[in-house]
Amino acid sequence: MFNIDSARKTMVFPMVLLKLADWLLYQLLANSCYRALRKMRNYGFFLRNPSFRLSQQPPLFPSVTKCGLEGRASQTLVCDIDGALLRSQSFFPYFMLVAFEGGSIFRAFLLLLSCPLLWVLDYELKIRVMVLITFCGLRLKDMKTVGRAVLPKFYLENLNLQAYEVLASTESTVVFTSIPRVMVEGFLKEYLSVGDVIGTELHTVGHYFTGFLSGSGLLVKHRALKEFFGEKKPDIGLGNSSLNDHLFISLCKEAYVVNKEDIKSSANSIMPRNRYPKPLVFHDGRLAFLPTPFATLSMFIWLPLGIVLAIFRVFVGIYLPYKMAISLGTSSGVNIRVKGFSPQGSGSGKGVLYVCTHRTLLDPVFLSTSLGKPLTAVTYSLSKMSEFIAPIRTVRLTRDRKQDGETMQRLLSEGDLVVCPEGTTCREPYLLRFSSLFAELADEIVPVAIDTHVSMFYGTTASGLKCLDPIFFLMNPRPSYHVQILGKVPRELTCAGGKSSFEVANNIQRQLADALGFECTTLTRRDKYMMLAGNEGVVVQDKRKKP
Ligand SMILES: *[C@@H]1O[C@H](CO)[C@@H](O)[C@H](O)[C@H]1NC(C)=O
Repeated sequence: MFNIDSARKTMVFPMVLLKLADWLLYQLLANSCYRALRKMRNYGFFLRNPSFRLSQQPPLFPSVTKCGLEGRASQTLVCDIDGALLRSQSFFPYFMLVAFEGGSIFRAFLLLLSCPLLWVLDYELKIRVMVLITFCGLRLKDMKTVGRAVLPKFYLENLNLQAYEVLASTESTVVFTSIPRVMVEGFLKEYLSVGDVIGTELHTVGHYFTGFLSGSGLLVKHRALKEFFGEKKPDIGLGNSSLNDHLFISLCKEAYVVNKEDIKSSANSIMPRNRYPKPLVFHDGRLAFLPTPFATLSMFIWLPLGIVLAIFRVFVGIYLPYKMAISLGTSSGVNIRVKGFSPQGSGSGKGVLYVCTHRTLLDPVFLSTSLGKPLTAVTYSLSKMSEFIAPIRTVRLTRDRKQDGETMQRLLSEGDLVVCPEGTTCREPYLLRFSSLFAELADEIVPVAIDTHVSMFYGTTASGLKCLDPIFFLMNPRPSYHVQILGKVPRELTCAGGKSSFEVANNIQRQLADALGFECTTLTRRDKYMMLAGNEGVVVQDKRKKP
């Protein structure tokens, strides 16, 4: 008896395996053969009569470009974010952003490895697999941070302008999507003022996602729409040309479709920065590109070379004389452009104060290298590692006005000094508010307009590991630094000339913004950290909590 039972038990396991293999094979082979066949058939058909699709298949619904925007102020729009509001053809890059920025590089690599599998699966399975790899074991908190600080930038850059215009002309919008709600809700409500977001719900345990969908499974758009609106019909529906979407938007009084061809052929669907519903000032995350499968693969191939290159560039910056550092750095791909000259000292015995815009923590280093002379930089919250590898002298400030003033006064009497009065970096073309402390201390002020450009990794972070900032910046294939040294501020525009320190600071901010083509803001370090990390920034927070 016992033997037979255990034999049965040992049989059950291979049976399950067999079934699983069978199912997998079915999914892989059947689907891929079917797809291949369909592609071939379409292809053959096109060869025989190329005008077929244009002449024989009148579109069921007019294109979104035909949608009038007048008189819609009281209407309701329903649409999807995937396939309608966004121009990107696939949602894979956004899953990759969550996997990389919220998870880890290993999770991102796994997601990349799943690409061949994803290619043969149908829409529903594809989403399920991407959700499993991206969300299995991910903390709810990490998804929230990515949703607030990383994804909006990429969604904004990929908004379809025509679809957005329809959205902006209506009173309210309800988005129905099969994409997990947590990935899109924050952006849609915050940036597009969407009223309700109905999407696929994910299963969670405690503070973690399990990687599975909740009991209700993948959201079916037309069913969800009927449930939401009941007998009432929404005014406008916006979808793409898939059958699934036709079913969905046919439940609306008016319906329009976003055609793939319209997006590809016309530049009109690209959203210019000045049309963004809300200015994009702060964002976080390491990836500077939209991680499509191909772009992600390129990044992983580049990575080993990038690390070696970054170490080489750090080494060159620390140990070699300025001239050699510049020429070796340039030949390794760093693009350094310098405009303007270092000013002559007035012989007052006091150093010159360089006031620069803050793009990465390497600003003082690049300024010192381009001037060809050693400078002292004052910093707020530099990591030990960065302090250690910095090729110039760095001095910590405390954010206590009186004490910092004395420190800077002393440093100025010893030599030239660099400050970044914004207090924190900003990646977009905006200048944060300038702290006015520097204006009270120095009479010889030289504004320096600094801008950087990266194509692969950002060299700044609000919630990640700050000590890796310089490495990430130097890991870019061609990181670029533009340093523009402006003329010395004339005496009548300094405190010595009778201006208040606020006037001096604001004037210099304005002058630097003009030189760079940036916009001035009154935002501060505190605003940045509140937005990106949900705290007030490490240093400030510690201090305020004590009393
Ligand atoms: C339509 O949008 C869905 C997502 O909602 C997408 O999966 C599908 O590929 C799109 N179809 C076409 C023809 O663009």
